[in-house]
Amino acid sequence: MSLTHKKVVLVVSGGIAAYKAAVIAGRLRKAGAEVKCIMTAHAAEFITPLTLREISGNPVALSMFDDVSEFRVEHIALAQWADIFVVAPATANIIGKIAGGIADDLATTAVMATTAPVLLAPAMNTNMFDNPIVQENLAKLRAHGYLIMDPDAGMLACGTCGTGRLPEPERIVEYIEHVTGRTELLKNLKVIVTAGGTREALDPVRYIGNHSSGRMGFAIAKSAAAAGANVTLVAAPTDLPTPCAVTRVDVTTTGEMKEAVDSLYDDCHIVIKAAAVADYRPEHKATQKIKKTGGDLTLHMVKNPDILYELGRRKAGQVLVGFAAETENVTAYGQAKLKKKNLDMLIANDVTAQGAGFKGSTNIATFLYPDGTTEPLEIMTKDELAKEIIARVARIYKEKTSQK
Ligand code: PMT
Repeated sequence: MSLTHKKVVLVVSGGIAAYKAAVIAGRLRKAGAEVKCIMTAHAAEFITPLTLREISGNPVALSMFDDVSEFRVEHIALAQWADIFVVAPATANIIGKIAGGIADDLATTAVMATTAPVLLAPAMNTNMFDNPIVQENLAKLRAHGYLIMDPDAGMLACGTCGTGRLPEPERIVEYIEHVTGRTELLKNLKVIVTAGGTREALDPVRYIGNHSSGRMGFAIAKSAAAAGANVTLVAAPTDLPTPCAVTRVDVTTTGEMKEAVDSLYDDCHIVIKAAAVADYRPEHKATQKIKKTGGDLTLHMVKNPDILYELGRRKAGQVLVGFAAETENVTAYGQAKLKKKNLDMLIANDVTAQGAGFKGSTNIATFLYPDGTTEPLEIMTKDELAKEIIARVARIYKEKTSQK
C-alpha cells in the first residue's frame, strides 16, 4: 500500500511522545502523503512548530487567532482538506475534550469539524490510561466511529513500566495506509479467518505440529479488513504481528480452534479456513516430560474433529471457504474436499511445489468452485493471492445474498 496523494492532518497534543510526531510526519511524507500539522499549545512546549514545519513541508497551525493575510477559516479549511485526521499522541486531555464535545482550540475544533476518519493514538502514563474515565471516553469515541489504536506496553517516560506508550510510528503509518486504502467490498461483514498450524501436546515440552507459519491466513485477514470487513483472526501459534483493525484470538490445539470458530459462526457472514489443522492428537498428554527409555516410544493417536466439515453441515447462508494442502492429485483431492465439506470455494495448493505452500512469501493456488469449474493462478505473493481470494469471496457473497 502507499499513501501517494493522501492528505493527512496530524494533530499533535501535549505529551512527552509529541517528539515522535516528527518521525510520524517524516514517514508519512516518505510514503507519499501530504501532511499538515496542528499543534496544541501544550504540544508546542515539547517540540517546536519549526521542527514539524520543516519535516511536514507545510506551515504548522497553532491557534484559531493567528494573523493571516488571506481570509480563511483555518479549522474548517483543514477539516475539509483531509483524507484522514490522526491525533498522535492523543493525551487523556484531548481524548476527554473530544469525547465531551469540547472545542476550545484549533486542534479540537478541527477534529470536531471534519467528516474524514479520525484515528487516535493514545499515549500516557499507565494509571491514566487505565483510569475508568479515560476508558469510558475511548469507548464512547469508538462507538461514534472514531478509530483508536491500542497503546504499546513498555518503559514509559515517567519511569514506570506498563501500557501507555505511543505505538511505533511504522504501526501508526501502517494503520493510516489501512484506513485510507480501505474499499467497501466486504463493508461491515463479519469474517472469520483461521491461520497457522495447530499443535497437540505430547507432554509439557513436546508437541505434534506442522510447518504452517500463518502467513497465508494473516494475509487474508489483512485483505479482508482492507475490504471493510470486521475480521476475527483465529490464530494458531505464530510470531506474526496482528494486521491492522483485526481482532485476534490465539489458540493452540484443534479443539481450541474449533471452540473459537464455533462460538463466532452463527453470527458471521464468511469463514475462510487457511489454518493447517492437526487431524489427530495423542490420546493422553503426559503430565511430566516423557523420559527416554531403552526401547521405542509408541503413541496412540485419536481423531480430532474436522472443524470445516462441521461448519459445512451447519451452514445457514454463510460463505464457507476452505483450503486444501495437497502433495499429489491436487485438483481431484481438492474437489472431493469442496464437496464433502459443503464449501462455496476451495483454494488448493501443492505444498511440495517450488514457491508454494508453507512458510514462504509466495503461493501457487487453484481456485475450485462447486459447479466443477477451476481457476488456476500464477505464482504470486501471499498478499496478492489474499486480494484475489477476497475479490472472489465478495462476488460469491453478493451472488448468494441477491438470490435470497
Ligand atoms: O501458513 P503458511 O506457512 O503461509 O502456509 C499456508 C498453508 C500451506 C498452510 C495454506 O495455504 C493451506 O493450504 N492451508 C490448509 C492446510 C490444511 O490443513 O489443509 P487440509 O487439506 O488438511 O484441510 C482442508 C481444509 O479443512 C482446510 O481449510 C483446513 O483448515 C480444514 N480442516 C482440516 C482438518 C481439520 N481437522 N479441521 C479443519 O477445519
